[in-house]
Amino acid sequence: MVTTAQPRLLDHVVSAHQFDRDLLEHVVARASALDGVRDRRLDGRIMATLFYEPSTRTRLSFESAMVRLGGSVIGTEAAREFSSAIKGETLEDTIRMVEAYADVIVLRHDEAGAAGRAAVVARVPIVNAGDGPGEHPTQALLDLFTIHRELGRVDGLHVVLCGDLRHGRTARSLALLLTRYEGVRMSFVAPAVVQMEPDILSLLETRRVPYTVTDNLRGAVTDCDVVYQTRIQKERFTDPGEFGRARGDTRIDARLMERLPQRAIVMHPLPRVDEIDPEVDADPRAAYFRQARNGVAVRMALLEMLLGETSPA
Ligand code: NCD
Repeated sequence: MVTTAQPRLLDHVVSAHQFDRDLLEHVVARASALDGVRDRRLDGRIMATLFYEPSTRTRLSFESAMVRLGGSVIGTEAAREFSSAIKGETLEDTIRMVEAYADVIVLRHDEAGAAGRAAVVARVPIVNAGDGPGEHPTQALLDLFTIHRELGRVDGLHVVLCGDLRHGRTARSLALLLTRYEGVRMSFVAPAVVQMEPDILSLLETRRVPYTVTDNLRGAVTDCDVVYQTRIQKERFTDPGEFGRARGDTRIDARLMERLPQRAIVMHPLPRVDEIDPEVDADPRAAYFRQARNGVAVRMALLEMLLGETSPA
């Protein structure tokens, strides 16, 4: 084992913007190598999960990843109610305390930018596990890993992102990561009230990534490689009228699957409500449960990069 101090590839995981092509390939390679591993390489290290919003997959897969690498886990779910936030403590002060108890903090918060604020004050790595309608970079990394694993490449693919693209932090982060690949095309399929925000679209333009904006899923899927469906983020709407208009005609059912090429896959960060009919689950192109399982290996890779002795190439 190399013991000389090497610069870390990652100090925090706050945004998909941090990941260039080389770093993405490193994450994919390490996740492939660590899939199924159980060892003690993070023995003695402690991960705190600080979750101000609900989660099943993200929290449990991070915990499972840490335990599989020999580390330990402490945490609070429902941190809004069960932590000192309810007494008025700022996020910054909470982070200054939790860093005394843990070597890495996995934070889910309801405000965009919260993980970035935490990283400014933290002396331990902060991992953004979703910051309101902002970003969800670790989900996007597992999505990218899934595309690699299912289709063998990312370059040259046509990816259809669908559903609530305005509030859906996973779709926002995934669109950013996809700009790092050659020849990728994206279609954003949603009613106007929940279309992809201009910040992402202008970045695509700067990076010369071709994209289309439409509300017609049936038209978009005929030549796609990936359909990435998302839930309408009901909790983020202040106007019930807007929520009503957000549903549109973007449901995936058996009829829609007939239009999808045989090579294509259907993904979803989960949880699903009714935007994918359960009749689709038996179709081999339905990749969403395989996708969720990939979360463990990708989070093992990230924890190793943030906390491990070295960053194996
Ligand atoms: C997503 C999230 O929390 O942003 N879920 C997840 O982490 N897998 C998607 C969602 O809540 O719809």
